[in-house]
This record gives sequence, C-alpha cells and structure tokens, in this order.
Amino acid sequence: MKITFEEFKTGLADRKRRRQLLTRDGRHYFVLVSQQFSQEELEQLCDTATAIRRLDRHLDGRDFLRSTLRGVRIMNLFAQPSTRTAESFIAAADKLGASTRLVSDISTSSFAKGETIEDSVRTLSSFFDAIVTRHPDDEFGLRASWALMQTQRSIPVISAGSGKSQHVTQSLLDIYTLRYSFLQRGGIHGKTVLIIGDIARNRAARSLAYLLTKFQQPRILFVSHKDFQPDDDLLGYIRAHGLEVDIYPALGPMLRSHGKQVDAIYVTRSQQEWDPGGLPRDTSTLGTGEDFILRPEYRDYVRPDCVIMHPLPRVNELPVEWEEHPGFVVWRQVRNGMWIRAAVFAAVFGADLEIRNRATRLGLL
Ligand code: CP
Repeated sequence: MKITFEEFKTGLADRKRRRQLLTRDGRHYFVLVSQQFSQEELEQLCDTATAIRRLDRHLDGRDFLRSTLRGVRIMNLFAQPSTRTAESFIAAADKLGASTRLVSDISTSSFAKGETIEDSVRTLSSFFDAIVTRHPDDEFGLRASWALMQTQRSIPVISAGSGKSQHVTQSLLDIYTLRYSFLQRGGIHGKTVLIIGDIARNRAARSLAYLLTKFQQPRILFVSHKDFQPDDDLLGYIRAHGLEVDIYPALGPMLRSHGKQVDAIYVTRSQQEWDPGGLPRDTSTLGTGEDFILRPEYRDYVRPDCVIMHPLPRVNELPVEWEEHPGFVVWRQVRNGMWIRAAVFAAVFGADLEIRNRATRLGLL
C-alpha cells in the first residue's frame, strides 16, 4: 500500500481507516495504539491469555502451546531500558515455541551509523517474522509499520512502548488484570478507576485511559500535577466516548472525600527521564512529590477490595506497606504481562482461535 507517512498517521485518528491500516484479514497486524482494539477483541484476547495460562499448566497443553508458533522468529528491538516488557515478550514467545532475539543496545546496530528506520526494519524483515519495538521516539513504531507495509515482505510490528505516547501491551495486561479483579463484581463496566501521576508523560497511564473507553461507562479520575495533566487529545477521546472524567491536584484530600467510591487505583512514577537533562546521575534523588504518593495511612480512605495497580518500576509513590492490602495486584500484573503478550502473538499470527478451542476441549476454558 503506497501512502505517505503523514497519510498513515492521520489515518490512525479515524476508527475505520485505522482498522484498514493496522489489520490484515481481520487480525491485528500492527499493534501500535490502544484505540485499535474493540471491547469484543479485548475480551477475546483475555480469554486467549487465560487459555494459554491454563494450557501451560497442563501436560498435553504445554506441548500443544509450544507447537503453535514453532519456527516463528521474533526480533525485540529495545532502544530504552526495560525489565518486565522485554523479558515478558521473550517468555511469551517461548511459551508458544517462537524464537527470539533481543537487541537492547542499539548503538551496536547500524542505527549508530545513521541507517534510517525504513532501511533497518526492512533489513530485519529479511530475518524475522515480527518486530517488537521500544523507542523514545513516539513515532518509531508507526514509522516502522508504515515503512514495512509498503514493501513486498511486510511483517507485523508490536509496540512495546513508544516515547511518552503509548504502551499498548501494558494497557492490555492492565485490562486483563482489572477484568480478573472484577470477575465477581460485574466486570470493568461502571467502575471508577483513579490514575495517579505524570499522565502527560506516562505512556502506560495514557494507554490504559484510552482502553477504558471501550467499556460501558467507567469513570476515570486523575490526580496529577498541573504541568503533567492529561492532554486534550486524551481528554477529548474519553469525553467523546461518554465517560465521566475529573482531575484533582493532590491525592490526600481527594481520597479523603471520594476514596470509598474508587474501585481501582493505578499508581505511576514521575517520568523524570523526560526532564531537561534526563535522569540525574544519583538515582537516590528520584521520586515524586508528596501530593502523588499513595501513603500507607490512605488505606483508611479506600475499601479493602479497592484494586491497587502499578505498571512498575516504582520509586517512592507506592510504599511497600500497600502489599498487605487485599486488593494489591501489582505482582499479578507482572505475571499477566507474559500471558497477554503470548495472547497478542497468538492473535497476530492467527493461532488464537485454535488455542481457545484446545483449551475448551480440555475443559480449561
Ligand atoms: N512496565 C514496564 O514497561 O516495565 P519495564 O520498563 O521494565 O519494561
């Protein structure tokens, strides 16, 4: 498909055009933004993740899983630090029998010699069947996808974090975790989700907010510093989908007044890597201000079943005392990252229906 990069980018803002650009044969092919998933597809992805999780514990199921993507080769191209995302993508591929290669220092690749994104990804498409990308540039994954879609040997691109903009697979694992947490409470529909932190620069928080709009009438509350509030694009999208949204400047007073109404709290760190000059050399100076710390004593302001989440890594904003709280699910989120990323690979390569069917036949789904 021959279109300019500008046309590609503009097209992503329109729901119908986005679908044409990012899917092939009804399957997500380029996984770049949260908005590209419908609620039905989210439910299906979550079911696939559960099927994979249960098959992996089953003797025959595990062998079957390992055969689903045997021979598929995945390039993980990470130009920013990562522990969870990089390792969970590798573990996810491993669960399905795909092989992976990780490039985490792109100064060792020909990008360092000035090679363009277009030439680099085109080269990688000669050796790999999909590329997973993390990059500080908001548009890296978009440009890689656009470049590949115009070649004879296009391969899928899955974003593993794009600049300050989106962290789509993080939001998928967050939705999977929320869905599980609210299983006995009517699902995500109608729930009040509080997102705390540096929203303007936090791609995980932004992607989750976009994804929550896919459910019926959840309410989104933000607590953030006036300089880092959600941008107009995000707020406009949330409101256009009929969701109620409120922004508060400080956590303590907000929770004192409204804490018992909150069903889930999503805590994020201050994104200081985007400050002028980047991260300080002395990492002990990192952390967020008092107004954005979920202090241990705030447990009195929320219900015991309030779900506590964080994409990690954390600094000072979510003290360890919260691990005693019944709704604390942060370590479950980490584990879910592997299952949902395996589900994403399965969906992209068209193995998801077979996986769900196998799990159903074995009585696991
Ligand atoms: N949540 C997340 O993206 O963590 P990493 O930066 O360690 O991948």
